[in-house]
Amino acid sequence: MEKTAVELFAGVGGFRVGLNDVTSFDEHGRAIEKGPWKFVWANQWEPATKEQHAFDCYVLRFGKEESSNVDISLVDKKSIPVHTLLTGGFPCQDYSVARSLHDEKGIEGKKGVLWWQINDIIKAKKPPFVLLENVDRLLKAPARQRGQAFGIILRCFCDAGYGVQWRVINAADYGHPQRRRRTFIFAFHKDTKYYDDFMTISGNGPEKVIVEDMMFSKPFPCKVKDGEALKEGMVSKKEYKTLPDVSEHFSFPFQGAGYCLNYEIKTIRVDAIYQGKVKTLGECLDVDHVPDYCYKVDVEKFKYLKGAKHILRTAANGHEYYYSEGPIAFPDYLNQPSRTMLTSEGTTNRSSHFILDPKSNRYRILTPVECERLDEFPDDWTNTGMPPKRRYFIAGNALVTGLIKSMGQAIESIVDSEN
Ligand SMILES: C[S@@+](CC[C@H](N)C(=O)[O-])C[C@H]1O[C@@H](n2cnc3c(N)ncnc32)[C@H](O)[C@@H]1O
Repeated sequence: MEKTAVELFAGVGGFRVGLNDVTSFDEHGRAIEKGPWKFVWANQWEPATKEQHAFDCYVLRFGKEESSNVDISLVDKKSIPVHTLLTGGFPCQDYSVARSLHDEKGIEGKKGVLWWQINDIIKAKKPPFVLLENVDRLLKAPARQRGQAFGIILRCFCDAGYGVQWRVINAADYGHPQRRRRTFIFAFHKDTKYYDDFMTISGNGPEKVIVEDMMFSKPFPCKVKDGEALKEGMVSKKEYKTLPDVSEHFSFPFQGAGYCLNYEIKTIRVDAIYQGKVKTLGECLDVDHVPDYCYKVDVEKFKYLKGAKHILRTAANGHEYYYSEGPIAFPDYLNQPSRTMLTSEGTTNRSSHFILDPKSNRYRILTPVECERLDEFPDDWTNTGMPPKRRYFIAGNALVTGLIKSMGQAIESIVDSEN
């Protein structure tokens, strides 16, 4: 089995940077890839803008040969090169499936819901391994039917012949400089030795398996949260004849760690175990290279946005209500990991980081390079001619690449054992 990979929804290449341990680029801007993964195809297309800044950055760093800049829904899935590992970060959307005359066929037409694109690729290419990233609330979505979205994903994977493991990981719990909680999904095809091995191991008791034997276990040590009990469920054809049945009726309290084998779900809450060094926001600052615009901030506005509020508002129907929110740090603490960066980072917004620069002793927003550091990309990775506001947006969309580097090492040894 070769270490070949595909990166979907590639953005500026967070999976590739992590898996191939990219820490710098050469004088032509080309990434220096130290890891073993050969990326045979990558796809990135930004629907909201004409300019394709993220894709242009990807091409500068990794070359244009295997890079595709079209809406993934227009790609003939069979034309994607054969690969061992499919990677991608996709949004949490409404995965509900409408019943149609031809039952499951109806789902194919759901436009804009990117999970179905991933599902089509999985069915067409059957990659032995899949590594996906989503927001933490994926496991609980949607509010009206908790767990339905993830249930649909698990059912699709099982129907396609895969076992699935997942972990919700907060990067800061393992020493990374950003408190960013994301759901990571690792799927493995029935034809792999890993599937057989995991099937055998799973006889040892699910709690032990979740803590000790998943792909995530070694890079991200954890223990069962005190007082928590295992939750078990099923998403098979016996309980839910078709995918629309899953969509209509499935609900389940998915916890932060678990696996699904042969439609059987085991899940439990876990706590991270980590005693190593913790990287802070302060350590990611670049105080000698702060562009002027970072200081052009409305300090009073930021103070107000971040403060506690209890405001009387009037709804469209005339109903009056109080809108309340608690205070958040003003300015942000430099001796802790940062908060989660959002795509609105750098704008005058409650969630943008706002710091007191320790060198100039003046208030400011973060620089794009500082944001890259919080995602653990090389400095100036996105300094490819795009406006700063796009660099902030892209940073808010990207991965903490150090997590992927750690997962990559675990996946490498799994792939090595296949040979
Ligand atoms: C959450 S971001 C992934 C970021 C990436 N992991 C990184 O490290 O930069 C999702 C990406 O999917 C892209 N995207 C959205 N819709 C798409 C579509 N229909 N086809 C291809 N890419 C799409 C967005 O432009 C965005 O860059």
